[in-house]
Amino acid sequence: MGFSKISLGANSLLLVVAVLATEVQGLNTFDVRKYGAKADGKTEDTQAIMKAWKDACASTTPSTVVIPRGKYSVGPLMLLGPCKAKSIAINLQGILQAPSDLNKHKSQDGWIVFQYIDGLTVFGGGTFDGQGSVAWAVNDCAKTGKCNSLPINIRFNFITNSLVQGVTSLDSKQFHVNVLGCNNLTFDHFTITAPGESLNTDGIHIGRSIGINITNSNIKTGDDCISIGDGSKQIRITGVNCGPGHGISVGSLGKYPNEEPVEGVFVKNCTLTGTQNGVRIKTWPDSHQGVASDMHFEDIIMNNVGFPVLIDQEYCPWNQCKQSIPSRIQLSKISFSKIRGTSSTAEAVKLVCSKGVPCQNVEISDINLKYTGPQGRAKSICKNVKPTVKGQQVPTACSATA
Ligand SMILES: *[C@@H]1O[C@H](CO)[C@@H](O)[C@H](O)[C@H]1NC(C)=O
Ligand SMILES: *[C@@H]1O[C@H](CO)[C@@H](O)[C@H](O)[C@H]1NC(C)=O
Ligand SMILES: *[C@@H]1O[C@H](CO)[C@@H](O)[C@H](O)[C@H]1NC(C)=O
Repeated sequence: MGFSKISLGANSLLLVVAVLATEVQGLNTFDVRKYGAKADGKTEDTQAIMKAWKDACASTTPSTVVIPRGKYSVGPLMLLGPCKAKSIAINLQGILQAPSDLNKHKSQDGWIVFQYIDGLTVFGGGTFDGQGSVAWAVNDCAKTGKCNSLPINIRFNFITNSLVQGVTSLDSKQFHVNVLGCNNLTFDHFTITAPGESLNTDGIHIGRSIGINITNSNIKTGDDCISIGDGSKQIRITGVNCGPGHGISVGSLGKYPNEEPVEGVFVKNCTLTGTQNGVRIKTWPDSHQGVASDMHFEDIIMNNVGFPVLIDQEYCPWNQCKQSIPSRIQLSKISFSKIRGTSSTAEAVKLVCSKGVPCQNVEISDINLKYTGPQGRAKSICKNVKPTVKGQQVPTACSATA
C-alpha cells in the first residue's frame, strides 16, 4: 500500500539521519572543510563556517567546530546561539581574513559576532585578521565621534561562562574586541596586534558585563589596550603586557545618559611599555551623572610610559565638550599600589578629579616612578582629591606638598 511505502521511506530516512548523527556525535567535531571551506585565501568560506556552526550548535552533545590551518576568506559572520548542548567550542587553527574592501561590511558593526552563547570556548592558536590598514587611512572617528561604519573585529554579545584562549586578533579596522552584556568570560593567552599608529583600535573594550578576566595576554595596538566602560563589574586584569597603545583605562565615562555604575576593577601584575598613558580613569567634563568605585591598580611596571598613574576627569579629546562645567561622575574607593619604573612625562602621578564631585577614598602606596628629560623632575599633581599616602613615594606625593 501507498501508506506502508511512505512509512518505510520515513523510517529509512530516520535511520540514515540517526547513523549520520551517531557518526558526527561520536567525533563531536564539525570540520569546516567537510562543509566545503577551501582555505585558499580567495574563495569565500563564510557559508561553510556558518553551516558547520549551525550543525554544531544544534547538536545535543558538546561539539567542536574545527577550522584547520589555512587562510579563510570570511565576510561578516554571526555565530548565534543559544546552542542545544551545555558547551560548544571553536578550534581555530587557521587564519580568518576579513574583506579589506569596506563596502563588504556595509551596515555591519562587527566582523565576527558571537551572540547568546553559554559555555563557549574559542581556542587553537589561530588568528582573526581584520586586514585593517585600508580602513585606518579613512578613519577619522576619533574626531567625528562616528565610528559605526567600521566593523569591530570580534564581538561577544551576551556570552556567558566562556573562555577565549590562545588566539590572536590582528589588524582590526576599529576595536579588536567588544564585550557587551557578558557574564563570566575569560580571555587567557590572548594576543592583540596592530600598529601603534592605527586609529581607534582599542584592544578589548568591556561594557555592561560582569566577571570578565583577562590573563596572561599581550596587547599591542593603536588605542587603549583595555578599556572598561559603563556597567562593568568584577573585572580582573592580570599578567597583561600592553604597548604600544594608550594604556589600560576605565572610561571614558559620562558622555551618554543612563550609564550604569562601574564597580570592581582589579588590575594586577601588568607591564606597560612605551604607552601614551599608564593606568587611568577618564571621565568627560559637563557629563551626565554616574559613579565608578572599587578600582585597584597594583604591582604594575611602567617602561617609558606617559602619565603612568592618571585620573583625568577633564578628559575632552578634540574639544568635544565644555571644559568649564565639571564632570558629574563620582569616583571613589581607588588605589594605586606598587607602581614602579620610568615615566616619559614629568607628570608621573596625576590625579585630576572633578570640582563638582571630588574623588573619595583614594589611596596611593609604594610609587617609584623616575623621569629624566626636558620637563625637569617627575612630579605629582592633585586636584580635588586628598589621597591617603603610604609607603615609598617617588615622586613626592602631592598631598604631602599641598
Ligand atoms: C565560568 O566559566 C567557566 C568556563 O570558562 C566555567 O568553568 C565556570 O564554572 C564558570 N563559573 C561560574 C561561577 O559559572
Ligand atoms: C576571575 O579571576 C578570579 C580571581 O582569580 C576568580 O575568582 C574568578 O572565578 C575568575 N572569573 C572567571 C570568569 O574565570
Ligand atoms: C605576572 O605576569 C606574567 C606575565 O606577564 C606571568 O608570567 C607571571 O606568572 C605573573 N606573576 C604572578 C605572580 O602572577
